[in-house]
Amino acid sequence: MLAHALFSLATLATAVSAAPLAAPLEARASTLAASSSSNVDFNITYSSNRTEGLPTMLILATGGTIAGSSASNLDSTTYQAGVVGVGQLIQAVPELLNVSNVDGMQVSNIASESMPDSVVLKLTKLANKALCAPNATFDGVVITHGTDTLEETAFTMDVTLQCDKPVVVVGAMRPSTGRLSSNSPNNLLQAVTTASHPASRNRGALIVLNDRVCQAYYCEKTQANTVDTFDSPEPGYIGALLSDKLFYYSTAAQPTFKQTFDLSNVTALPDVDILYGYQGTDFGLLNATIADGAKGVVLAGTGAGSIPAAALHDIDAAAAKGFPLVRSSKINVGAAVPGDAGYDSMIAGGLLNPVKSRRLLQILLALNKTNDEIRDAFEGKLDSYLSYKPGSS
Ligand SMILES: *[C@@H]1O[C@H](CO)[C@@H](O)[C@H](O)[C@H]1NC(C)=O
Ligand SMILES: *[C@@H]1O[C@H](CO)[C@@H](O)[C@H](O)[C@H]1NC(C)=O
Ligand SMILES: *[C@@H]1O[C@H](CO)[C@@H](O)[C@H](O)[C@H]1NC(C)=O
Ligand SMILES: *[C@@H]1O[C@H](CO)[C@@H](O)[C@H](O)[C@H]1NC(C)=O
Ligand SMILES: *[C@@H]1O[C@H](CO)[C@@H](O)[C@H](O)[C@H]1NC(C)=O
Ligand SMILES: *[C@@H]1O[C@H](CO)[C@@H](O)[C@H](O)[C@H]1NC(C)=O
Ligand SMILES: *[C@@H]1O[C@H](CO)[C@@H](O)[C@H](O)[C@H]1NC(C)=O
Repeated sequence: MLAHALFSLATLATAVSAAPLAAPLEARASTLAASSSSNVDFNITYSSNRTEGLPTMLILATGGTIAGSSASNLDSTTYQAGVVGVGQLIQAVPELLNVSNVDGMQVSNIASESMPDSVVLKLTKLANKALCAPNATFDGVVITHGTDTLEETAFTMDVTLQCDKPVVVVGAMRPSTGRLSSNSPNNLLQAVTTASHPASRNRGALIVLNDRVCQAYYCEKTQANTVDTFDSPEPGYIGALLSDKLFYYSTAAQPTFKQTFDLSNVTALPDVDILYGYQGTDFGLLNATIADGAKGVVLAGTGAGSIPAAALHDIDAAAAKGFPLVRSSKINVGAAVPGDAGYDSMIAGGLLNPVKSRRLLQILLALNKTNDEIRDAFEGKLDSYLSYKPGSS
């Protein structure tokens, strides 16, 4: 059943026109030598034949719907995520090989709600090694990932990548075997196309789904079920694909608020929990969370990160002991701004939503930053805009 479904998927995918090719596929030399050295580092289980002149991508497969399977062609809700392997994923979209040489590594094969911090840390180390090391042989990295927490991994990649080569994170809302309009094969082709393009350099990590390119720093999942779910509601998309051709609306730029961190000496990300805000909450779980070993907490406040008065006693008590608390907004769009009266003991998350605030706090804690440094990393840049005085330089 699966083999049949994948064959059909490949048939479906051939309808997409492909990039010009240096030599016909069947005439390509079987030169796996080029990738054998990287095998030592990357446990590559699929390696395409090399076409001279094409860039080379490392596809890091982690699971999710894009690697999902269902017995039903219509199923987009009850399928099993993370069962199709990286080799099958790539072979189902042979158009990829007209765009790029590809090596595939299976890093995990799980649904993204279960993605452990350790795998996210491994992904950023692998991407940095593949792209940024002095002897790096890859031109881009594509990470296939479940969509539920895709923005968390993409954000982490964005703020930890040490060079200007592209990392593209891609998923799908319908499993690869859902033959009636699966978005898996086209999304994978577009992700590889984006990661292979020289114009994608110096834009940080990117999220590519459904013909659109979204900057990981701002991009988030905005709809639980539909295919048009990833969006960056305020800054917007930065690029798009017309059939299989990529274009950008503007020249390369980085998010103003982004800072990058080197995790090469970090062996684990510390536990940081998120507590959800609602009418009148006293965040009664805060003490329990701290007792349970959390090293920091993000409060997903209401509105612009507002916190009920009933919660301030416990928050202030925890902060007085040096425990870091970041105040974000459960609205997910907009800013929790620094300097709100009564909230001094908390750090304002700025434009980062709760899950991205959590990742940044984990990274800062892993790097042994002081509370002042943590506050500056979250608030400094936005504060410099907010405290600007007309007439000053
Ligand atoms: C790159 O250099 C590192 C450190 O010397 C080495 O461990 C690794 O095997 C090299 N990788 C490749 C692809 O040659
Ligand atoms: C590659 O696989 C070996 C054996 O399973 C494992 O010990 C090693 O940690 C893996 N390397 C990476 C980078 O995943
Ligand atoms: C590489 O090319 C050879 C010869 O055409 C073919 O037998 C082999 O299956 C190809 N390998 C891949 C990974 O496509
Ligand atoms: C690759 O490109 C060549 C030349 O344009 C075309 O003939 C071939 O069908 C393409 N292969 C796929 C799998 O799209
Ligand atoms: C990692 O640790 C080594 C050895 O202590 C040190 O030389 C290097 O600067 C550290 N790298 C980073 C990014 O902190
Ligand atoms: C939480 O701990 C603080 C001391 O850090 C204490 O004052 C407060 O009463 C505790 N709150 C609850 C609900 O137990
Ligand atoms: C942070 O501090 C701990 C404890 O001193 C140390 O073991 C660890 O290596 C440090 N981490 C980094 C990234 O320097």
